[in-house]
Amino acid sequence: MKNIVLVGFMGSGKTTVGKLIAEKTGMPLLDMDSMIEERAGKSINEIFADDGEARFREYERELAKELAAMEGQIISTGGGIVLNPENIADFEKTGLVVCLLADAETVLDRVKHDTSRPLLAGDKEAKILQILETRKPLYESIKHRIDTSGRPSPAPTAQEIIDLY
Ligand code: S3P
Repeated sequence: MKNIVLVGFMGSGKTTVGKLIAEKTGMPLLDMDSMIEERAGKSINEIFADDGEARFREYERELAKELAAMEGQIISTGGGIVLNPENIADFEKTGLVVCLLADAETVLDRVKHDTSRPLLAGDKEAKILQILETRKPLYESIKHRIDTSGRPSPAPTAQEIIDLY
């Protein structure tokens, strides 16, 4: 049984959609950010502040290798998983990789009160625009993409993914 791997920018809805797919299919949901926090014994904010982004990317890489070796899991990745193409290549071998897209306005609306994402500390709108711009080609290189911009409910997105699976 393949995995379902959800990829996409912060606030694109990976965790919410992953939970819904889990409810509908009974498949287990693994959230990479939560697993990294558990392993490191600290929050993502603390990992970035104490150890740096590069260390966070190492945690992410190690975990991606492990999870890609599993079967039948729903895997909600962090938005930066696409920065290392080896992560996507590994996930593609054993899973259906789906990229959730969302425009800057939708992302800002979804993360405006959030303080758990170190890359968006400060001027959220400027940071979203800048990071989205640099990562756009990486997200767009993923074969299966669903634009969730302006969608008020995650249910149709979850259903689309189940239909693809
Ligand atoms: C990041 C996204 C976050 C988290 C970390 C870095 C990124 O996950 O992994 O803050 O580089 O886009 P979400 O996409 O779940 O917010």
